[in-house]
Amino acid sequence: MSDTLTITDNRTGKTYEVPITHDTIKALDLRKIKVKDDDFGLMTYDPGFMNTASTKSTITYIDGDLGILEYRGYPIADLAEKSNFLEVAYLIMYGSLPTKDQYDKWAHEITHHTFLHENIKQIMHAFRYDAHPMGMFISIVAALSTFYPEASQIDDPASRHKQIIRLIAKVPTIAAFSYRHSRGLPYVYPDNDLSYTGNFLSMLDKMTQDKYTPKPALERALDVLFILHADHEQNCGTAAMRVIGSSQPDPYSAVAGAAGALYGPLHGGANEQVLRMLMEIGSLSNVPDFIKRVKNRETLLYGFGHRVYKNYDPRARIIKQTADEVFEVTGRNPLLDIALELERIALEDDFFVSRKLYPNVDFYSGIIYQAMGFPVAMFPVLFAIPRTVGWLSQWVELLADPDQKIARPRQIYLGGRGLDYVPMDQR
Ligand code: CMC
Repeated sequence: MSDTLTITDNRTGKTYEVPITHDTIKALDLRKIKVKDDDFGLMTYDPGFMNTASTKSTITYIDGDLGILEYRGYPIADLAEKSNFLEVAYLIMYGSLPTKDQYDKWAHEITHHTFLHENIKQIMHAFRYDAHPMGMFISIVAALSTFYPEASQIDDPASRHKQIIRLIAKVPTIAAFSYRHSRGLPYVYPDNDLSYTGNFLSMLDKMTQDKYTPKPALERALDVLFILHADHEQNCGTAAMRVIGSSQPDPYSAVAGAAGALYGPLHGGANEQVLRMLMEIGSLSNVPDFIKRVKNRETLLYGFGHRVYKNYDPRARIIKQTADEVFEVTGRNPLLDIALELERIALEDDFFVSRKLYPNVDFYSGIIYQAMGFPVAMFPVLFAIPRTVGWLSQWVELLADPDQKIARPRQIYLGGRGLDYVPMDQR
């Protein structure tokens, strides 16, 4: 038995042998399959990359059928319970858990790069009072490349490290400024005495007090939510990061593009859609009607379904537990009952069961964020902050991978050819 695939082209009767590695064949190996010598050769057609691996990776492992998620080999539930976001960020970036010295240095560097250049405030001021915070977030991340022109030196490890630290450190500040702008509130500068999430809460909430003390349960809940969102292998935003990164721009431009991909309602914008959906349903008695509308294809059940998970999303399970801890401090979000009823009905209904549609990470996260006082428009931004770590780690892996090339898919051209140009007055 050999690790090869034998393909017979019934157009010609010719047989080809293609190597199989890691249960995968190389798409380029198909190009030798031709009818005539001057043919282009066989391609694969795979919109949405349903069955195409674009990279080898050692960062995140998902088994979608079993509902398993691991960062660098460590189960997500263990990390959520025992670690903290900055330690997980180090693990994702460097591949192993830090020693105490490594952790202290990493946390110190990130804590001391949280401030934004003062000119950023002027860019923020230019946005309308009701600008969506995610639009502001994407724009400001992109604008940072103009403040750090050396970031274009992506082959220089020291420059790369500096930008990674800056990005992870500054995304909470950008997010908080976006929030304060949309509320008409003065910006709050970072507090280096607080933790990553404690400082973020301070920049969001602080008013006249000399020192802001975050509520430990909320600080911890946000930390857990950030751990759960830090990476998720080759999803739409990460694929965008890698596609943009493959043309070798600075990482600010690439992260801004990845955040743009995350913004959509089918991806990181789903948490915002879930809340809008729950508010529209309004009461338990309207749930059966809403499910009927989903089955009639009039709307999606946001927060359900996943390209990879065909089982309960392990992140949704952890978020459900975290919700209880948050509600003890904030009071219960009444929308939780509607969400639980939607989940109960959906998990018994053949439409959802047969399609293996289960709650994903976005189904319960918004309910917690709302209970913590975040407006719904902030939800995608809360996803983008921790995912910045995943994007950067995937970017570093891309740059070091000798197999990678500029991303440039093929197409199947089905349009006209060689048409004669007709002057406008004769059309
Ligand atoms: N509500 C109703 N029907 C659904 C849903 C849903 N949420 N998700 C999938 N389906 C149906 C879909 O219509 C299709 O039915 P059929 O085979 O009869 O045409 C079947 O289930 C398979 O779905 P698909 O759209 O082919 O699956 P996909 O892998 O292309 O899409 C998805 C995955 C996440 C985009 C999709 O499930 C979806 O739109 N979900 C709602 C949005 C959402 O919650 N997104 C967050 C995803 S998790 C976090 C993240 O990635 O950011």
